[in-house]
Amino acid sequence: MEQTFIMIKPDGVGVIINRFEKKGFSLKGLKLLTVERSFVEKHYQDLSAKPFFSGLVDYIISGPVVAMIWEGKNVVTTGRKIIGATNPAESAPGTIRGDFAIEIGRNVIHGSDSVESARKEIALWFSEGPVSWESTLH
Ligand code: CMP
Repeated sequence: MEQTFIMIKPDGVGVIINRFEKKGFSLKGLKLLTVERSFVEKHYQDLSAKPFFSGLVDYIISGPVVAMIWEGKNVVTTGRKIIGATNPAESAPGTIRGDFAIEIGRNVIHGSDSVESARKEIALWFSEGPVSWESTLH
């Protein structure tokens, strides 16, 4: 089944999980963590030449983020619709960025832009593997 990688950026923690759950997607992995500059640079390596790159990295390391794997039919495309346009000024009300963000540089959430990116991002952020029955406490 298709999976996507979703990151709640430092200022979005607390308001977002509900939207994916209500839609009917399944949560397959979740962790709260702080990330180092070098790790964020790896995650956003395709953007390294952009003028906003260092500001973007500063933002992601400014506090804990929540890394998640969500699964379900067309979750990559539908997840991006739930999230809204990259620039909150262009995100419709009712989308996460439309409701919770104003600035493009502080847009509260990341979602993989393709099935291939999702595969890479899940491998990067969940190198130990997602939550599984083996991690159940008894
Ligand atoms: P995200 O979906 O995580 O993918 C790349 C990120 O780069 C994007 O969300 C924004 O946080 C950031 N970004 C894209 N364009 C700009 C911009 N013009 N100015 C600042 N940040 C940007």
